[in-house]
Amino acid sequence: MDQISNFMARRSTWPAFIARKDEPRLPVSSQPQPMIRFRTLLGHCLYRRVVIWTFVVVVCLYFTLFNPRLNTTSREVLELVNLGNGQFKGKPELEGSADLQVADLQVADLQVASPQVQAVDGKEHVPQSSPEVKPADKNEKDPAGDREKNEDGPSGLNGPHWLKYKHLDGYYNGLRSLVTFTEYKPGYPEISYTSEAESTVAQVHRTETPRPRIYRPQPDYNSEAYRSTYVPVRPCYLDDEKKVPVPDLFAYDGIPQGQPQPAIGSYDLLGIRQDICFDRFSRYGPYGLGYGPDQGGTGVGIDTEREGSDAIWERTGKINFDGTDWASAQERCFLDNENRFFTGNATLDAHLAQMHPKRIDRTAVVIRLFTGFKWTSHTLLNFRALVSELSLQSGGEYDVHFLLHVRDNAAPIWADEVTVQNILDENVPWEFHGLCTLWSEAQMKLYYPGDFGHTFENPANSDIHGVYRSAHMPLQYFARMHPEYAHFWNWEMDMRWVGSYYELFDTLGTWAARQSRLGIWERSAKYYIPAFHGDWSNFTRLVEEETQASGRASVIGPVDFPGKTPLQHGEEGLLPESCNPGYDMSKCGVGEDADLISLNPLFDADQSGWVFSGDVTGYDTQFDKPPRRSAIVTASRLSRRLLSVMHEETWRNHHSTFTEMFPPTIAFHHGLKAVYAPHPVYVERAWPVENIDKAFNGGRDHTTGGHGSPFDPTNEHNFKGTTWYYNSEFAGRLWRRWLGYAQSDGRANEGMLSGGRLEEEDRSGSGRLCLRNMLVHPIKWENPVEEDKY
Ligand SMILES: *[C@@H]1O[C@H](CO)[C@@H](O)[C@H](O)[C@H]1NC(C)=O
Ligand SMILES: *[C@@H]1O[C@H](CO)[C@@H](O)[C@H](O)[C@H]1NC(C)=O
Repeated sequence: MDQISNFMARRSTWPAFIARKDEPRLPVSSQPQPMIRFRTLLGHCLYRRVVIWTFVVVVCLYFTLFNPRLNTTSREVLELVNLGNGQFKGKPELEGSADLQVADLQVADLQVASPQVQAVDGKEHVPQSSPEVKPADKNEKDPAGDREKNEDGPSGLNGPHWLKYKHLDGYYNGLRSLVTFTEYKPGYPEISYTSEAESTVAQVHRTETPRPRIYRPQPDYNSEAYRSTYVPVRPCYLDDEKKVPVPDLFAYDGIPQGQPQPAIGSYDLLGIRQDICFDRFSRYGPYGLGYGPDQGGTGVGIDTEREGSDAIWERTGKINFDGTDWASAQERCFLDNENRFFTGNATLDAHLAQMHPKRIDRTAVVIRLFTGFKWTSHTLLNFRALVSELSLQSGGEYDVHFLLHVRDNAAPIWADEVTVQNILDENVPWEFHGLCTLWSEAQMKLYYPGDFGHTFENPANSDIHGVYRSAHMPLQYFARMHPEYAHFWNWEMDMRWVGSYYELFDTLGTWAARQSRLGIWERSAKYYIPAFHGDWSNFTRLVEEETQASGRASVIGPVDFPGKTPLQHGEEGLLPESCNPGYDMSKCGVGEDADLISLNPLFDADQSGWVFSGDVTGYDTQFDKPPRRSAIVTASRLSRRLLSVMHEETWRNHHSTFTEMFPPTIAFHHGLKAVYAPHPVYVERAWPVENIDKAFNGGRDHTTGGHGSPFDPTNEHNFKGTTWYYNSEFAGRLWRRWLGYAQSDGRANEGMLSGGRLEEEDRSGSGRLCLRNMLVHPIKWENPVEEDKY
């Protein structure tokens, strides 16, 4: 496959996008608009902004202090940027919905002094914000090749050591190389790591694309076992007349030969299937990928390779989504199944818990949305999948909601329906209007009034009621409005799951409930790397040994600290009976639902270098900052109990911490059950697993916390080649390849694209990608033509 045909493959995606210009389902503000270049400097992600502005400031200072050509006057001007106390007083207040992937890449690449100037998708990006900085030397072909093999682990500004490892090509083996799980030989980690000669080119085993089959990870509601235990489930439909059944997801039995194993986390441990895979048609075909608006689809995927994709629609035909109203479908589904669930009324539920058949809890998935978000046809597919799989396919066990942040504080969203309708019309596709709950920062100021007192540090230099520092406030409010849910998944627009969302959320909840509280904080503070640590019992033992060696006590139950304010009604009730004295402590909390499930470790923020670790408000300042835990990436499940303790801490004690730190810190203080679920995370390159451990567990006492934390900005580059972190680049590349678009593969040779239609159609290749269940984040754009908008 040469570069020109790859380029043509990419170009061939254009006409479909042009046709989408009249996509009637998207809100007005998401229709393609003229590009505004300066948006690349803005962003809604605070970390990036802080990293970028810090970098700009540091570069300015560097040139001030070390460049003799600068005269005194300009030096004085630059010195106005005050870096005192590690605060970012020079950070301009910029608001913007556009993303800044591009600017982020420039800064990050330069920050680590990498010669790899080529960023994603084969474009070279020249920094705009700091013209003095020259992009690194383009002639240096392989940034990894010449560098000495140095220690991994946190490497600071010495350069991203991981660039020296070879790319794992096994991800790109396609459907025609599918083998059963017993025949499967992973392309990683069981290989020699540095030899370029070894390559995991898959054997093409088949001339035909294999056929997918229907995949339902929900319990078998019709089984005798289910019906004799629980209230029977009535099926749900997309329409009022109950004529259009909810579409089914499809999966392939097997995995493309040579596909790497996840480096971090485990399928087996969590109970997630690892012997099946999904292509774009089996995942999204049921929701409108692969056919055009003339048939009620989105048009997405028509321009990609599609051999054998018709199997998806053989049984049901292509579903026409015109006029689908997901909120009313979800509401109907719940009402038809209402007697399956607890109600949120404690008196009534205590009574219902005695009865047979058993009732179950309901969970809300709450997606953080904001005005100005650019909807695309791909995002429609993802949220249709979310509602179908979680709510409609489960007989109403889950509900999906959008918590829409209205940035205009003057908008009377709680006073006037017309205002609300206009905001919805402009910002949300019609099919999701009924799922939205609107909120604004002005409303949070009313909801949580009073003086929040002293803040130890405020690096974001923003308001305590603002979304950056207190995104938990609207979620607490939402939980108060919805007593019917026991748990709340906090979710984001730029996250995707290959596979069924039901399987993800259900297995994580079940696994978390099974975990003992003994050692749970210590295990949750560390990345689990199975190829390095062995199985979960090896890992558990190792953590116990390391905790002993550290001389720190294992945490169980509420923690005490100077200046602690007890809860209004005490906290004795927050530990289950199995933790009482006299019981086997290894069983403490087993069977108890987790109050917090995070998707990255719960690390000790103190001295971790994490930028916001000191953003602590309302605590008594005659003492040190209280002990804190944090988890980066806010996606997590919070219990009603945790949210009500957070609510009390907010309204009564006026306590707060930076968004990512508040739920874990409150759970830590009051003895709630919190756990990091080690879901599978993949890496782009063949890192030796012992070096992954050094890089990701390089904090104090071999944890992710304290000094040497992977969340220190000087170490965060390590996440770029992974599938789950706010700065991950591999996540987007892999996802877009899977969607059928040619992508730069992240190598240094400029302009080289691989994948895409022509390559997947090539009979000597193995066809389109088939990936296993995995989370990817951040997905800032999907069709490569959308990249320019960011
Ligand atoms: C809760 O349920 C009980 C028993 O059915 C009922 O008497 C009470 O009014 C309910 N409370 C609320 C707030 O609905
Ligand atoms: C895990 O534990 C087993 C049993 O104690 C032991 O044989 C094995 O070597 C351990 N594996 C690792 C990677 O430590």
